[in-house]
Amino acid sequence: MTTMTSMSEPIALLSLRNICKTYTIKKGLFNKKKLELKAVKDINLDIYPGETIGLVGESGCGKSTLGKIICGLEKPTNGQIFWQGRKLSWPRKFSPQDMQMIFQDPFSSLNPRQKIKDIIAEPLKINLSAGGRTRKQIHNRVLELANQVGLSPEHLNRYPHEFSGGQRQRVAIARAISLSPRLIVCDEAVSALDVSVQAQILELLKKLQEEANLTYLFISHDLAVVKYLCQRIAVMYLGELIEITSRNELSSPKHPYTQALIKAIPIPDPENKPDRIIPGTELPSPINPPTGCAFHTRCPQKMDICMHKKPSWVTISQSHKVRCFLYQNNTSTKS
Ligand SMILES: Nc1ncnc2c1ncn2[C@@H]1O[C@H](COP(=O)(O)OP(=O)(O)OP(=O)(O)O)[C@@H](O)[C@H]1O
Ligand code: SF4
Ligand SMILES: [Mg+2]
Repeated sequence: MTTMTSMSEPIALLSLRNICKTYTIKKGLFNKKKLELKAVKDINLDIYPGETIGLVGESGCGKSTLGKIICGLEKPTNGQIFWQGRKLSWPRKFSPQDMQMIFQDPFSSLNPRQKIKDIIAEPLKINLSAGGRTRKQIHNRVLELANQVGLSPEHLNRYPHEFSGGQRQRVAIARAISLSPRLIVCDEAVSALDVSVQAQILELLKKLQEEANLTYLFISHDLAVVKYLCQRIAVMYLGELIEITSRNELSSPKHPYTQALIKAIPIPDPENKPDRIIPGTELPSPINPPTGCAFHTRCPQKMDICMHKKPSWVTISQSHKVRCFLYQNNTSTKS
């Protein structure tokens, strides 16, 4: 068995080492042409118990692919995943007590023909033998979970279509926490909700974290939401991580892309709302990504070296690192 141990660092709940995911896309006449799409490239990340880490980046940068790899829903093309220092193999022995995923659209992940009580009870019933719960115990646990997520007992006999988006997300959360998982991957979990409902669900996630010492990987394209909820933030661009920082240090972002993301956080005046993250530039295709630093085609500060070489990680502080030549004294470092 492969294990990861370190004398000085706390043991991460989950560690990703050199994780890659390449999809083969068929194109052209009779789908004969095969193209490689590198959705996730060489990701290294540690997630620690009890923390909320945010994963941000523009649409298509690989956030959901990484979330699915973590939860065992996608197989990585390369790389290793460690759970509490122990290497996980594929196919993953999926343990719902370890991790769960909450998606953007709870309507599509909730069976429309099941009552809310049965939806919440489902993981408990599947794990009946493991947990040894009786029907009465399951019923009591469903009542307890409903109460925890702010649903009343009357809600339990209804169907998903009778609920609002926010209430459906509460049901999805109740189901996700039913077996007390250690890690929850929330993939755009509040993106489809109105701002006021978003705030309620974010508060609920915070409350549940305090009650159950949950760890969250919170995936979102909305940096404002991530900034509110997360202690650490990882920024992705075209399948790669380019900056990892604490929330406090996000006020002085280092990577030009993170700086652009922060500038693009919507401001209350709709007249001045930026229409693109970086005006006048297009996100390159992941099928044909730029050489060197993938951001060089849009970077206002690019240098010659950026077009040919990949920057390696530079440590700014204990909780802040960035991949950009602007901060690399010795620009001959390899990636
Ligand atoms: N099953 C698949 N087959 C082929 N390509 C895929 C597949 N799933 C994702 N991709 C591609 O991989 C890239 C990353 O997709 P992913 O869904 O992970 O991005 P994302 O950051 O979650 O985007 P969004 O913010 O829109 O949800 C995209 O170019 C996407 O088209
Ligand atoms: S490495 Fe160069 S192109 Fe990339 S973000 Fe830094 S300055 Fe811009
Ligand atoms: Mg996604």
